[in-house]
Amino acid sequence: MHRFACIVPACAVLVLALWAGPSAESARGAASGQALVTGRCTGCHGLERVCAMLGVKDRGAWAATVARMRRNGLQVRDAEAAEVAAWLSGLARGAGPVCP
Ligand code: HEC
Repeated sequence: MHRFACIVPACAVLVLALWAGPSAESARGAASGQALVTGRCTGCHGLERVCAMLGVKDRGAWAATVARMRRNGLQVRDAEAAEVAAWLSGLARGAGPVCP
């Protein structure tokens, strides 16, 4: 009982820390979403494929696309994938720097 009482708060702190992680990251989402897209989405194809879908895919559709790109071989962490989907879904059709 005594031991258990010590473990539970430690667990709660860990869960809170993990939970706070992604939202802390989204504070600097704009810059890193852009950096991730221009840096990691150009390895296999050009940004024109991404540009063509701006204003077409919503956040859920972008999340699904990024998940498929990961199966294609894209290397990103979960938080980075979420940031990419959030950033792309906020861009209007034809928006730079994704579109020329
Ligand atoms: C490892 C290689 C690779 C990387 C890296 C990659 N892609 Fe792709 N992408 C592909 C391939 C292969 C296709 C065509 C087959 C398909 O659609 O899955 C494609 C197609 C697409 C398409 C057109 C199809 C559709 O669903 O509209 C979009 C948009 C796209 N990629 C976005 C991205 C984004 C955004 C990133 C970066 C987060 C990215 N890709 C990184 C391989 C890659």
